[in-house]
Amino acid sequence: MRVLVTGYNGQLGFDLVRRLELLGIDCKGVDIQDFDLTQEADVMNYIRDYAPDTVVHCAAFTAVDRAEEARELCFAVNVTGTENVAKACQAIGARLMYFSTDYVFKGEGDQAFEIDEPYDAQGYYGLTKALGEVKVREYVDRHFIVRISWVFGANGNNFVKTMLRLGQEKTELTVVADQIGSPTYTYDLCFLLTDMLQSEKYGTYHASNEGICSWADFATAIMQEAGLSCQVRPVTSDQYPTKAVRPKNSRLSKRSLDEAGFKRLPTWQDALKRYLQELG
Ligand SMILES: NC(=O)c1ccc[n+]([C@@H]2O[C@H](COP(=O)([O-])OP(=O)(O)OC[C@H]3O[C@@H](n4cnc5c(N)ncnc54)[C@H](OP(=O)(O)O)[C@@H]3O)[C@@H](O)[C@H]2O)c1
Repeated sequence: MRVLVTGYNGQLGFDLVRRLELLGIDCKGVDIQDFDLTQEADVMNYIRDYAPDTVVHCAAFTAVDRAEEARELCFAVNVTGTENVAKACQAIGARLMYFSTDYVFKGEGDQAFEIDEPYDAQGYYGLTKALGEVKVREYVDRHFIVRISWVFGANGNNFVKTMLRLGQEKTELTVVADQIGSPTYTYDLCFLLTDMLQSEKYGTYHASNEGICSWADFATAIMQEAGLSCQVRPVTSDQYPTKAVRPKNSRLSKRSLDEAGFKRLPTWQDALKRYLQELG
């Protein structure tokens, strides 16, 4: 296997390259300094030259609130950029792994969403990630689409790092309690992803750590685990307005993972403990 990983400077791409290297798999991580996803010819030339048999496309415009204003750039990276990668994979016969999000769904009710739930994104970022999925399916038959949620990893910024910082600066924090989902630790996710890459079980999957919580529950657990005395005060989404509307229900069904015989991730509480040790 020869794997090209985009988004190497980000959370997931960085950890995935680390895991592939540990397994002795021939791989290379690239980011915007190697080529800009929005430039079709650059993407095609780079991928043709490196000649991977698999591209793992972690790069994306991930600033959910900024996406509401920077629509053109968000579309260029998440839709056109993904189309460029998918076309290059098609041209050289490579497989493609793409990451999507719980934000492609409207997120009502309290049931877990199956993989074939119709898209109904609330925000622009979610819409572009859904359109990216469409491009992957259009150009590359041998694809994995993995929808993940609430990602945290060693490299880059995320909710846990923000809570650790604010928890040291403040005595009380308000955090939304009416958005329910599952955090995803990139370290754990990468075990699943490398299992997938070593299989031919193509298709769409949902993957996150086991168990559900609200952002306020997650923040409370972070403070407790880190030994911070900062109090987390639960609020509603209405009391904490953001530019992008987020789904209230981000529960993702793992049925397709189970049916394909892939192992689920550990619980988010267990992942959080190990993540704080990793951060040191
Ligand atoms: N983070 C989450 O909570 C979350 C949740 C669900 C799904 N996902 C999806 O999971 C995947 C990985 O997320 P992540 O958290 O690892 O993302 P991340 O940390 O934001 O990393 C994304 C990387 O893509 C790069 N990039 C942006 N525009 C580019 C361009 N035009 N050309 C080349 N590279 C470009 C970024 O570079 P710059 O930093 O220089 O812009 C960054 O290094 C993404 O597809 C994301 O949509 C993430």
